[in-house]
Order: sequence, then C-alpha cells, then structure tokens
Amino acid sequence: MLIRVSRSLSRPSLCVQRLLRCSSHTQLSQLHSTSIRKSEVKIKGTAYQSDDVTNVTPRILSKIGKNLHTVKHHPLGLIKRRIENYFYTHFTNRVGNPLFAIFDRLDPVVTIHQNFDSLLTPEDHVSRSPKDTYYVNRDLLLRAHTSAHQEEIIKMGCDAFLAVGDVYRRDQIDATHYPVFHQCEIVRLFTEGEVFSRVKDPTGLRIFDEGDRRSHDKQEMHTLEAAKLVEFDLKKCLLGLTLQLFGKDVEYRWVDAYFPFTHPSWELEIFHGGDWLEVLGCGIMEQKLLNNAGAMSKIGWAAGLGLERLAMKLYAIPDIRLFWSEEEAFQKQFRVDNPETPITFKPLSVYAPCLNDISFWVPSNFSSNDFYDLVRTVGGDLVEQVDLVDEFTHPKHQRTSHCYRLVYRHMDRTLTQAEANEIHSSIGQKAIENLGVEIR
Ligand code: PHE
Repeated sequence: MLIRVSRSLSRPSLCVQRLLRCSSHTQLSQLHSTSIRKSEVKIKGTAYQSDDVTNVTPRILSKIGKNLHTVKHHPLGLIKRRIENYFYTHFTNRVGNPLFAIFDRLDPVVTIHQNFDSLLTPEDHVSRSPKDTYYVNRDLLLRAHTSAHQEEIIKMGCDAFLAVGDVYRRDQIDATHYPVFHQCEIVRLFTEGEVFSRVKDPTGLRIFDEGDRRSHDKQEMHTLEAAKLVEFDLKKCLLGLTLQLFGKDVEYRWVDAYFPFTHPSWELEIFHGGDWLEVLGCGIMEQKLLNNAGAMSKIGWAAGLGLERLAMKLYAIPDIRLFWSEEEAFQKQFRVDNPETPITFKPLSVYAPCLNDISFWVPSNFSSNDFYDLVRTVGGDLVEQVDLVDEFTHPKHQRTSHCYRLVYRHMDRTLTQAEANEIHSSIGQKAIENLGVEIR
C-alpha cells in the first residue's frame, strides 16, 4: 500500500486548512517533545518565557533575521523589487508619490490576536493548532502569514500598503515545502468617494446598505455596486502584477476560494510549465475586520502572495532549500542590477541521493508534523524529502504503524551512504526518545 502525503506544489492556504477542524483547547494543551524545554527562548536578543505550548526549534529560530527578501541579489529580493516596482510605477497619489507604503521589517513574533483573532479565524480552526504553527509560548507565535499585520497597519491610518516578510508553518518535507517561506501582503482601502470616483453621476451611490443579506457576491452590509467596483479594482491590480511578472500572454483563471477574513474570496492561477499554479489568494476584506481596525467608513481588498513559489517558477529553481544556500555557485546566478533581467537557474551539479526507510509504532497523540520537525532538527538541509509510504493499524492490538521514506541529498557534493546511515540512525534514536515511538 502506498500513501503519498506530499501535497501538490500549492502550499495549503488557510482556506484549505479550514476543512480540517479540531478543538483548540486540546490543541494548546498538547506537549511537543521536539520543542525547546528550557525556560526561555531567545529571539534576536529578546528573551521570551517558554511554556508547555512552546514548539519552536533552534533550527527554526536560526532563520529569524535572515530577511532573504531584503537581500539585493537574492532571488526573493529580486522578486520583491519587481513587485515594488509594479506598485511604484502604476499607483501614485495626487502629488505623484507612491500610493502603497512598504513594510518589510515587521517582527515575525506576533500575538495570537494578530495572527488569528484580528483575522476572525474561528476558535477551532486547524491553523491554530501547535501541530501546524510554531508557538514561542501560549501568547506569542511565529506568524504563519503576513495577513497578521493587516489590522495594526490599518490602525496606523495606512490605506494602501505591502507587508513583506518571512512566515513559518510546520509542514511536510519535500522540494517545494520548507517550514520558513516568504509572503507579500497587499491591502487597499477606499472611501465612498474613491469607490465611485469614476462614475459620471455618483449621486445616491453608497458603500453600505443596512438590512441586506450576504450572498456569493458580497457581504451583508455592502451594496452590490460597491462590492463589484472593489472586486474590479482588486482583479485589475493583481492581474496587472501577475502579467508583469509572468509576461502578458500567460494564461490565467480566477477560482472561488474561502478565507475567514475576506468575502468574496478568490485565488488567481496561471498556466505555467504544463500545470495550473496558484499565484495568490485574495478577497474583499471582512467589514468586521475594518471596523475593529477603526476604518469603519471604508471598504477594501487584501491579497497574499508566496514569494518562493513565484521565484521557483520564474527562475526554474528546482528545490526550495536552495533559497538558503550560501554557495557562491548559487548566489552568483542572481547578481543582476536590474531585477527585470530574465534569469534561468542552472542547477549546480546534481549529486546522487541516498534513500533510507524507517518504520515505527506511533503513540496515540502522534502527529506526522512532529516527526518532520525532528527530521529537520537532526538532518537539516541534507534531508530532501520525507514521505509517509505506509500506514496501517494492527487488527489485534490496534496499534498504528508508520513507515517513512527519507531521501538524503547534499546540495554541493556526494553524500556517502555511510553518512546518510549515521544521520538516519540518530533520527531513529531521537524519535524514540522524544516522540515515544517504537521502532519495528
Ligand atoms: N493569508 C492567506 C494565506 O496565507 C492569503 C490571503 C491574504 C488571502 C489576503 C486573502 C487575503 O493563505
């Protein structure tokens, strides 16, 4: 029996995760053995009290502050500059200044309010689980998306902005998934006058309509005309950005989506390399979020893009671990002054992989993400992929067994089988000690 757990290229958005619900109370009381058990966690010089929910690992913490999106000649830095250029050149205010403000140094340590509550994420939403999210402690976590900053920036009085940064999710291990990646959030708000500014005679046109109902097209408090004009603006702006990045002839489609903090919501997909690729998630912001942020007279839209996913497609980068490579052979390929310069990545010579399987009986509260984290902690970037290849429950004693296949590969040289075996056996050892599994 072969069970593939690897998802397709698209990282599960909160909209997909919504389908899997669980109780937040039990989530938060779960202990994670891969976590740091010291009494405090140090992040960029600040000490945070750790507790029973803490599940950040030293490996994850070592990524904080790298800010790859701000490195000038890094592929993520190049993509970010291309996105900024699009907004700088297409959107200016009355006096010719850029309309969109850019925030790219916001602290990735955020509160539960920022990451979830401010975005109206239901109490039992699976993304709140320590199985999926890195908690610093009960109150603080590493942001799982840049949407975490929407409310605070709107509260500052900003009506149009980008927020770019590193985001953290506990996840499977393969060529397109890494527990740290980068996102760009885009938000634009409008006053009533702005929404209807292009209408010849806007008399009587309003954003808000009391006593209407929520439908597929709009929220209950919005008029259909306002919702449609904002949808039009959102689609025009985001499609323009996508065509700027991928070329004006790229095939695209809008797909209906769900996010707790937007309605209606969409995903924009492009046809690239023989497949549909999700470029971004977006929607008209839930009015409740805007009201809570003090922008009750405005209507707005928001979008979020994953930078690695775009960069992998645009530059033909085959493995997500390469973004963290310090090899000159990787970095020099992105040393261009103009970020619009087309680049096709030439793979560093590909070295042979080593494959090792591990099978064990799992305890009842076991989560595969605990094992993936442990593998990352012990094996680091030498682990290219982990697949759950077999899972069964013994008919008599009802215990469940998992078999994982680990692919080890060095990015810069040949890894010997002996070296792979050594890492593999320490992974087995740590899994026994920390996760309570029993090797078969
Ligand atoms: N934050 C969402 C995600 O990470 C993307 C998104 C942003 C969707 C803004 C809608 C609006 O999946």
